[in-house]
Amino acid sequence: MHNKMSNQPKKYNHLLLENKVCVIVGAASLRSIGYATAELFAAHGAKLVILDVQMNEQIANDVATSIATQIGHAPEILSLQCDICSLADCDKAIALATARFGTIDCLVNCAGIVKSGGLLSITDDEYSKIMDVNLKGTFNICKSALTIFAEKQAGAIVNLASLAAQRGGGLVGGAHYAASKGGVISLTRSIAREFAPLGIRANVICPAMIETSMLDGLNEVQLNEVISNIPLKRVGKAIELAGACLFLASDLAGFTTGATIDVNGGIHIH
Ligand SMILES: NC(=O)c1ccc[n+]([C@@H]2O[C@H](COP(=O)([O-])OP(=O)(O)OC[C@H]3O[C@@H](n4cnc5c(N)ncnc54)[C@H](O)[C@@H]3O)[C@@H](O)[C@H]2O)c1
Repeated sequence: MHNKMSNQPKKYNHLLLENKVCVIVGAASLRSIGYATAELFAAHGAKLVILDVQMNEQIANDVATSIATQIGHAPEILSLQCDICSLADCDKAIALATARFGTIDCLVNCAGIVKSGGLLSITDDEYSKIMDVNLKGTFNICKSALTIFAEKQAGAIVNLASLAAQRGGGLVGGAHYAASKGGVISLTRSIAREFAPLGIRANVICPAMIETSMLDGLNEVQLNEVISNIPLKRVGKAIELAGACLFLASDLAGFTTGATIDVNGGIHIH
C-alpha cells in the first residue's frame, strides 16, 4: 500500500533503541563483540541485560564502569551469570530480566567458543563442547527469549555465526566450529520463518577477523597473511560488528528477517 504524502515532517529518532530492553549474551570481556554491542546499544538508549558464563561481581562492575565512562552516563544494567548450554539457566536469566524490566525487546547472542585443528584431530569431547555452546546454547537462549517474544508478539533476535560456516572452515576455527556456526545460520532462518507471522524478526551475522581475544591465537605472520587477503586490508573492529547488530535490533530493520549479513572486510563476497 502506498501511503499518501503527508505535509508533517517525519520523526527521525537518533536514539535507535530508546528504552528497549536488550539482552546481550557474551559480553564479559571489554574487548568482545558483545561488550561493544552493549556499549553502543546503551548509547542508543537501551536498558541492558548482560549475560555471560564468566559473569561475576567484578566483571559486572568493570563492564558498567566502562560503559558509563564511554557514553557519559550510567545506563540501567542487569548483569547475570548464565551458561547458555543450560536451558534452565537461560529461562532463569530471562525470568529475572522480565522481573526487573517488565519485558525484553531484543536478544543479541554473541556467546561462542572457537577451537582450531584439522578434522582428524578433533576429539569427541571437543566436538560436543563446541556444538553445546555454539549451537545448542544459541537454541536455548533463543527459545527462552522467544517465549516472551511470542507472548507479546514482538521482538528481534540477532545471532552471531561466522565466515567459517560459509566458506568451509575457518581462518581460526576447525570443522566442528564451522559446522556449529552453519547450524546457527539454519536455526536463525527457521526462527525467522516460524515467528515472522507473530511480528518477530531473526537475523544472523557472519563476522570474520574482528579484533577480539578470538584472534589472540594467531601469530604476527599468520595475522599479516590473513590481512593481505582481506580486500579492506585490515581486521575489523568490535564496534563495526556492533553497528550491524544495532541496525538489525532496531526498527530500521523492521522489514529484514531471515537475513545473513556479512561483516568481513570483503574477504568473502558472494
Ligand atoms: N572475533 C572474530 O573474528 C569472530 C569471527 C567470526 C565469528 N565470531 C563470533 O562472534 C561471537 C563473539 O566473539 P568474540 O570475538 O567477541 O569472542 P569473545 O571470546 O571475546 O566473547 C565470547 C564470550 O562468550 C562467552 N561465553 C562462552 N561460552 C558461554 C556460555 N556457555 N554461556 C554464556 N556465555 C559464554 C565468553 O565468556 C565470552 O565472554 C562468537 O560467537 C564468535 O564465534 C567472532
